[in-house]
Amino acid sequence: MHWTTDQSPPSVGQVVITKTRSPIRSNVGLKAVMAVTGILLVLFLVVHMLGNLKIFTGETSFDHYAHWLRDIGTPLLPHTWYLWIQRTVLTVAVVAHIVAATVLARRARAARPVKYAHRKKIQGSYAARTMRWGGVIILLFVIYHILDLTTGDLNPQGDASNPYGNVVADFAPERWYVTLFYTLAIVTVGFHLRHGIFSALRSLGQQTPQGERRNRAIALVVAVGLCVGYLVVPFAVLTGLVS
Ligand code: HEM
Repeated sequence: MHWTTDQSPPSVGQVVITKTRSPIRSNVGLKAVMAVTGILLVLFLVVHMLGNLKIFTGETSFDHYAHWLRDIGTPLLPHTWYLWIQRTVLTVAVVAHIVAATVLARRARAARPVKYAHRKKIQGSYAARTMRWGGVIILLFVIYHILDLTTGDLNPQGDASNPYGNVVADFAPERWYVTLFYTLAIVTVGFHLRHGIFSALRSLGQQTPQGERRNRAIALVVAVGLCVGYLVVPFAVLTGLVS
């Protein structure tokens, strides 16, 4: 039982009425929302990375893949419907992820009446701060990235019928700063994933020392694997391996 500073423990015989929160409003419920939406976003990242790697199979194959994305579900669903359903689900997941993270962070701050004097020594607080700013940077990157490679507005070629050409034009050697920017964003995604996957596994599973070690290892392998899988594409274009 925890008592906040303005509360005193009940005296003997006093009736204590505890408000019960619905699971969605409790911390456990919010952590589950973070974990489930996070898993969905990681699944998208894995599939998107595998799709990007098709660039190594050549222009025709990559462009065919990009066009096929718009035809998934046909003829049951009309053209591009699947893509729009996926976009809606991902947007809802991102919003729920951010809302749950914000509420959890506010509650954690409210439950701590006195600020820590030595912030650096408190484990978790550093990670929480990194996660918040990491999340903001990733969100800004995704907005830029969609304007770059989906709508083509910020892409030097911006030809919707030729995604391969758009990627090659984007990461051309003379535009090395675009590769640098993508690298920083993807490394930020990697750090966010490492902590996020570890937290999700801890929330959903057992908390034994052996389990923690295993969770840490899984989180590191997934985060590094995704980072490398994403980074090889811009670097392949930058070095002329893909042109
Ligand atoms: C260097 C790494 C990456 C490359 C080369 C890349 C490439 C692409 C391309 C070519 C598209 C357009 C697909 C199409 O319209 O057919 C796209 C869309 C997208 N990418 Fe990436 N991407 C990369 C990294 C990322 C990362 C790290 C994220 C998320 C954090 C991300 C999220 C998205 C999203 C949300 C879309 C829009 C999908 C849609 O149209 O519904 N991408 N990407």
